Amino acid sequence: MLELAGQAARTNNTKLINDWKNGLLVYKFALDEVNTKLEILNEEFQYIHNYNPIEHMKSRLKSPESIIAKLRRKDLEVTLDNAREHIHDIAGIRIICSFTTDIYKIMDLLSRQSDVQVLKVKDYIRSPKPNGYRSAHLLILIPVFLSDRVEQVPVEIQIRTVAMDFWASLEHKIYYKFDSEVPESITDQLKDSAELIDLLDKRMLAINEEVQDYKKDDPSILPIIIS
Ligand code: GTP
Ligand code: MG
Repeated sequence: MLELAGQAARTNNTKLINDWKNGLLVYKFALDEVNTKLEILNEEFQYIHNYNPIEHMKSRLKSPESIIAKLRRKDLEVTLDNAREHIHDIAGIRIICSFTTDIYKIMDLLSRQSDVQVLKVKDYIRSPKPNGYRSAHLLILIPVFLSDRVEQVPVEIQIRTVAMDFWASLEHKIYYKFDSEVPESITDQLKDSAELIDLLDKRMLAINEEVQDYKKDDPSILPIIIS
């Protein structure tokens, strides 16, 4: 009898694990779709304007363990339906650009694609978080075409400059190191650094715009002679 119950529990577990695996698969497909869109935009830009708005990208699927932990933090029952409904960053893409202007260019180009539905925009560049965090966040729905249905899948996209990314990754490490109780002297320094980074981003953009104003054959640019 006990043996039978054990077997039933194992079968149930296997079914549960398979359900989750299948349920999460569409998020992988959604990442593939959005990655392709972004690669196309970047390549087309390179081809036409000889310029890459995207420095690099990283995408990640939230692990089942992190999804479960987030559901518990939100006091929700651990079910696939709740994950689908309440966790919007199961599929995540981070895009790193050189300049803030590139961030808005990519947001605009992606949002205007007919199969992309923008659910939410959070502009932490125009309105930084109190700790100094800057980034643009876009939550989109992307259709994934399966053999028997089309699913609209949410993908969270974070877009930031190289400098903002430098700040965010250090802040993230510090936050974890101190188990979210970061000493005030450190948070003050982080906030200060975020302001410096903002200034740096603005200066780099200004330099780049000035350089763009020069024409290749502009005689005012003297050739550099290396002796
Ligand atoms: P959560 O994903 O549950 O945090 O939901 P939310 O809707 O409040 O998300 P928000 O758009 O503010 O942030 C989503 C993601 O952006 C986070 O999971 C982080 O990856 C990143 N992020 C937001 N705020 C910070 C921050 O202060 N520091 C760093 N390093 N990353 C942040
Ligand atoms: Mg998140």
